[in-house]
Amino acid sequence: MLALPGALLHAQRLPQTVRPEHYSLSLVPNLKDATFTGSEKIDVLVEQPVDSITLNAAEIKFDSVTTQVNGKTLKATVSEDAEKQQATFTFNRTLPAGRMTLAIEYSGILNNELRGFYLSKTAKRNYAVTQFEPTDARRAFPSFDEPGYKATFDVSLSIDKNDTAISNTNIVSDTPGPLVGEHTIRFATTPKMSTYLVAFLVGDFQCVSGESDGVPIRACATPDKVQYGRFALSAAEFVLHYYNTYFGIRYPMPKLDLIALPDFEAGAMENFGAITYRETDMLLNEKTASVAAEKRVAEVVAHEMAHQWFGDMVTMQWWNNIWLNEGFATWMEDKPVAAWKPEWKIPEDVATDLNDTLNLDAQRVTRTIRAEANTPDQINEMFDGITYGKAAAVLLMVENYEGAEVFRRGVHNYLQAHMYGNATAEDFWSAQTEVSHRPIDKIMDSFISQPGEPVLNFGEPQSGSVTVSQQRFFLNPKVKPEKAQTWSMPVCFKAGGEEQDCEVLTAAQQALHAPQAEFLFGDAKGRGYYRYIYPASAYAAIVSHVESGLSPEERISLLGNEWAQVHANTASVGDYLNLAAAVKDDTSAAVVTTALGAVEAIDGRIANTPEEHAKLAAWVNANFKPAYERLGAPSAEDGPEKRELRAALFGALGAVGKDPDVIAQAKQITEKYLADPASVDNTLAQPALTIAASNGDAALFDRLQKTFEDTSDPQIGEGALRRLVEFRNPELEQRALEYAVSGKVKNQDAAIVLAISLEIPETHDRAWTFIQQSWDKVQAQITTSMGAYLIRGTGYFCSAEKRDEVTSFFAAHKVAASADALTRAGNAISDCIELRSAQEPKLQEWMTGQK
Ligand code: BES
Ligand code: ZN
Repeated sequence: MLALPGALLHAQRLPQTVRPEHYSLSLVPNLKDATFTGSEKIDVLVEQPVDSITLNAAEIKFDSVTTQVNGKTLKATVSEDAEKQQATFTFNRTLPAGRMTLAIEYSGILNNELRGFYLSKTAKRNYAVTQFEPTDARRAFPSFDEPGYKATFDVSLSIDKNDTAISNTNIVSDTPGPLVGEHTIRFATTPKMSTYLVAFLVGDFQCVSGESDGVPIRACATPDKVQYGRFALSAAEFVLHYYNTYFGIRYPMPKLDLIALPDFEAGAMENFGAITYRETDMLLNEKTASVAAEKRVAEVVAHEMAHQWFGDMVTMQWWNNIWLNEGFATWMEDKPVAAWKPEWKIPEDVATDLNDTLNLDAQRVTRTIRAEANTPDQINEMFDGITYGKAAAVLLMVENYEGAEVFRRGVHNYLQAHMYGNATAEDFWSAQTEVSHRPIDKIMDSFISQPGEPVLNFGEPQSGSVTVSQQRFFLNPKVKPEKAQTWSMPVCFKAGGEEQDCEVLTAAQQALHAPQAEFLFGDAKGRGYYRYIYPASAYAAIVSHVESGLSPEERISLLGNEWAQVHANTASVGDYLNLAAAVKDDTSAAVVTTALGAVEAIDGRIANTPEEHAKLAAWVNANFKPAYERLGAPSAEDGPEKRELRAALFGALGAVGKDPDVIAQAKQITEKYLADPASVDNTLAQPALTIAASNGDAALFDRLQKTFEDTSDPQIGEGALRRLVEFRNPELEQRALEYAVSGKVKNQDAAIVLAISLEIPETHDRAWTFIQQSWDKVQAQITTSMGAYLIRGTGYFCSAEKRDEVTSFFAAHKVAASADALTRAGNAISDCIELRSAQEPKLQEWMTGQK
């Protein structure tokens, strides 16, 4: 990270002397020339007399800036500071305190960077669309572009007469002109809101329509894809009613639109009343979609809709508390989806996500949930697994402790108190402390303001109590805590089959109540934000009850914990494999997926010789093939969990087991799928495509490439594209890498494809060589926040040599907003080196012990 002195960083913030109250924006985009003109009026309140007014602007050409003072028109001189993305208006006289209106005439470009007011393209035509979070509204209109400066907005767009426009609110007028062949669409005034939530979209979008609790809802896309929006629309209808009830506050906008955009950098964006999506996160064909695709679309819909209340109606004061938005929405999204489709077993997926987050936060270098962020790069870097995953996990733990209904009331009170305003972390946890009469402020503060996570050491239970000590946990056994850290957290026991009341652990060491029982498990429901270690006999008692005494979420916690302990070298890889074997007949897809995910990692990261791979393959097949065979062939009657379980088993038998039957089946399924996607179970088709491609030839490569280029179904297209980097043949690998940066793959996807190729042990060396040698081409195809995505892929190496190459390459080839990602990639490689050196001998030992 660039070391700028604090004062300089703060200079990026706007002065507090002038506040916007209302913006009137008239925009005229030219989709052919990729330009636009703007005519803007900002009503501001000058708090104290000022000599100039400073606001944000980036890549804006000012034509004139004027204001009226005492009936006289004053013309401003404009000075721009490109570095700070600011413009200062000076009027030749001091401006008095009070209200005034700034009138700004300007022009800008519809850029190709997927941010600000940007151009999105299909083979047929261009679209003009927006993405403003976190700091790019300033590219579309000069503005006080900080979340604390809320104002109301009137937006009007003059566009081609055959095009339509969508913005945050409903249309109030649609009149011909001003030029021949144009019409002008005016939208209703918005409620008070932050600039980053404004959106306007222009093109030939078409929509399917519905409603919920009297609110009109539409799902919109380019004309060829509009039918694929029906699933997201029905999810949104369910979710809107669910949230109206949950929050006890009605959805605040006159309408809700969901719009899939042909080019979109993130997954989706919660613009108030006009949520935008990457096509694959909104559109699917219900006849052919996989369970995973349906879950993903529903979750993204529920996530962005949660923001309509939490984020849009009530907004964090500054980006240091972006976790309030993203952590909350990530926690919230699961509730309506779980209620909509109980058969999806969403709580088990939540437990799986928690393991990923705990592993991320157990790296040597991590950061606090709430953290300083001042420059646009720093702010962009905040959107990471800590903001999303850790903050969501802390909320889940706290909700579990308070009880869902008490927590809900805390949420309601917080929203009610700050409606259409801004808030801080303290505002949120004070509301929770007040409703629950419990020390939520202490618990949350200890997790929000400290980096990392605790590991709890449980002693032997004795006469109704157990001693628990805590310290910071690291995945890497070589990393030791620099200073003592303690957290306040609820610890919830399951004693035998019985859940106990949770108790709050605050001290470094403390005795907690624990009744005598057959086994004592310290993470009832699997919602604790901590890892744990038991004495050997206590651990053995838990393992012997893993199927009979633990819930699926608890099993996922236990598996994730044991895998983390293998990294930390407090357990051996053999212990892990024995635990995985103990759940081999589990009927929970998430449990089996968790176990097999680690087995795949053992194959990719610990096993290092052909013999080790072969022995692991034999073990996987011996243990998991019977479960796969018992499930039988896919049938129309199969529920989603059975489909996902079959797919998980099939995937591991192919990838780790290299089972010839499975590979042959994968090829057959892939053939059928490519001929007619509706002819196979698409959940099973996902691992089948991966296995077929990783064992595939040029003919299959050509077919996948053609499928990607020809299909209008975003799910099928994305699936085909991603499999192009699965081929192990060096020539095909090279073709895939070159294709990724050829310009035929959208900028939104190029880095994702390259990152996948970096994650596969068999392909990552060549991928890395290619990326370095073709850096100019790579760089030209990745947009700003995709750089960090690419760098994350380099974290899958497992040698000091590669770690040094990665570090020195990106030191010489700077990628914006990726300092943390680079540090983490280096940490991840170090963790893998330690894992392999400690556990490979143990793997050999364990293998010798297997008959
Ligand atoms: N607010 C974000 C979108 C965003 C991310 C804007 C980063 C600017 C920078 C949105 O609510 C979000 O979190 N989207 C996620 C999907 C979600 C289901 C986790 C995304 O884009 O991946
Ligand atoms: Zn979000």
